[in-house]
Amino acid sequence: MLSTLDAIRNDIAERLADGATNRRSASHTPVVATANADARVMVLRGFDPESWTLRFHTDARSPKVAVIESDRRIGVLVYDKQAKLQLRLRGTARIVTTGSEVESVWSQSDNFARRCYLGSGPGEHSGQPTSGLPSEFEGAEPTDEEVVPARQNFALLLVQIEEADWFSLAHTGHRRALLIGDKGRWISP
Ligand SMILES: Cc1cc2nc3c(=O)[nH]c(=O)nc-3n(C[C@H](O)[C@H](O)[C@H](O)COP(=O)(O)O)c2cc1C
Repeated sequence: MLSTLDAIRNDIAERLADGATNRRSASHTPVVATANADARVMVLRGFDPESWTLRFHTDARSPKVAVIESDRRIGVLVYDKQAKLQLRLRGTARIVTTGSEVESVWSQSDNFARRCYLGSGPGEHSGQPTSGLPSEFEGAEPTDEEVVPARQNFALLLVQIEEADWFSLAHTGHRRALLIGDKGRWISP
């Protein structure tokens, strides 16, 4: 059981760094909640320990992007069942579609990953079950040339964490701490 607020701050940072790099980490697929009371699973792609910023990848056409553009409040929820630990992160979101950071991420992904941004936008209606992908790319990797139009649909979702609510379950007594900026306090679970 962690007994200092500094240890909890480190634990949160370690969990987020692990989530960004380890597919088996409980922090790899958090639930991301937008201000319109909607929530969805997303893959955590990056965590900057200096600024406490999370990076997700998404389709610029997805409904959540429009919601975030009009209200930047965001929540990110992690539950580690094995560790019996809940992390509730609250912060401010930013959608980035141009600039060096997004270009760098795009250039590091492969054409299979880029293919996800080549089809219909998320939520587009269809008369039949659909992957949204053009049929020639179902199960096939597009070429560098074919994947060019996907780039304009690719966006980063950056979350600047402002508050972290850490909750540890234990039959001897739960523990809970709240970090706001560089301050922290214990609170009753
Ligand atoms: C395991 C899992 C991982 C997902 N990862 C992402 C992701 O990294 N980015 C993303 O935009 N959507 C991801 N999705 C899809 C979203 O949950 C969601 O359905 C989609 O983004 C549309 O969301 P919206 O309608 O709220 O915009 C994932 C879904 C699952 C089940």
